[in-house]
Amino acid sequence: MSCKVIDADVVIVGCGVAGLYCALNLPRALKVVLLAKTTVDECDSMLAQGGICVLRDEDDYESFFEDTLRAGHYENRLESVDMMIRASRPIIDDLVKRGVRFARTASGELDYTREGAHSRPRIVYHEDITGEEITTHLLACVRGLPNATVLENTCMTDILEGFDAAGARVCRGIVAEDAAGGRLQINADATVLATGGVGGLYKHSTNYPCLTGDGCRVAAEHGVLLENMDFVQIHPTTLWTEKPGRSFLISESARGEGAILLNAAGERFCDELQPRDVVSGHILRQMEAEDSSYVWLSFERVAREELEHHFIHICEQCRAEGYDIFTEPIPVVPAQHYFMGGIHVDSDSQTTLPHLFAAGETCCNGVHGRNRLASNSLLEGLVFAQRAADKIMRDRFAADTAARLAAAAAARSRFVAGSRDVTDVALQCGAI
Ligand code: SIN
Repeated sequence: MSCKVIDADVVIVGCGVAGLYCALNLPRALKVVLLAKTTVDECDSMLAQGGICVLRDEDDYESFFEDTLRAGHYENRLESVDMMIRASRPIIDDLVKRGVRFARTASGELDYTREGAHSRPRIVYHEDITGEEITTHLLACVRGLPNATVLENTCMTDILEGFDAAGARVCRGIVAEDAAGGRLQINADATVLATGGVGGLYKHSTNYPCLTGDGCRVAAEHGVLLENMDFVQIHPTTLWTEKPGRSFLISESARGEGAILLNAAGERFCDELQPRDVVSGHILRQMEAEDSSYVWLSFERVAREELEHHFIHICEQCRAEGYDIFTEPIPVVPAQHYFMGGIHVDSDSQTTLPHLFAAGETCCNGVHGRNRLASNSLLEGLVFAQRAADKIMRDRFAADTAARLAAAAAARSRFVAGSRDVTDVALQCGAI
């Protein structure tokens, strides 16, 4: 079968926030190709409900750091946590400049919500569809780039390897397949894997089924280092249903705003604002004790105003399933939600194979430790995608400068050699 070949400077596999933001942070002079395995809408960034964390002020630094570490069982990479927290405010400012809307107070300031294991409200949000708001805007920005092309329904099947000038193995792009089974080879100086999580491998997950850990599989086949592959997060609350398909998330910000968990007898059985793994454990034990497939989540303590304006889409989805969150508890059950492990990367999102980068849920930069703190995922994806773009740009600049210096040196040596030739001729002719 024939193979279409595309030459690019950077190929980005995945169109979630990490892939999109990487593209937006690259210089316009670079030709960028982005791939979506199915349609661009089918990425988990679109599904993120709760919000995105931000450092509220310098006084918040220590508690933000400590909350992230405590949720992560102190197995986080400290350098990564520091980078993420310090970059959070400029990232939010940039999103706002790009037109992303976040909830505001009556005086026009950013409004902050709270989720489990946060010692204070530091999460900015847009209704209960923050991920969709951010991803849609970033996608529109990428579509407007003159240097970027988005290929949908195009699935990466492999990466390409080659050798650099020193003979070391490097990544040289990817191989992909389109929806009709056509083969595509994309040659690129830098490759970024932003292929998302692994929820598609689970029976009950909040993730899109197409997210099956492709980046990790391909990386492993090329001997690229993976890390913490057993760090999988189970979200405490998804809407219980007997219908097959993706589990519908009931945002942790609902508990952050006062929703409580109840057992079959209508009694509370845990502190709902502990880290996710702890709350999921309480629920699973309660279900086992009651031999039940779910527990209940009650919104009776959540302000009506919040239900009407903040949790609009959760309210609609529950109504479609026959539950009225204004008047009755809903059945909830834990489900796979997030993957903290993945392709090992350094603080510039570089993998152990030169010219191969990874960002977002598919990579492990250690920021989340063993268990991610709520609403750190969009932030982490954006911060470390930007760092990947910066590194690609620096490498490119260094390579271009080296090439220019080499060309100048070659020209100089030709000139010097030429002068020598002239000198030799002159000597031979006895002219000098
Ligand atoms: C949620 O709203 O509970 C999910 C957001 C996240 O995964 O941090």
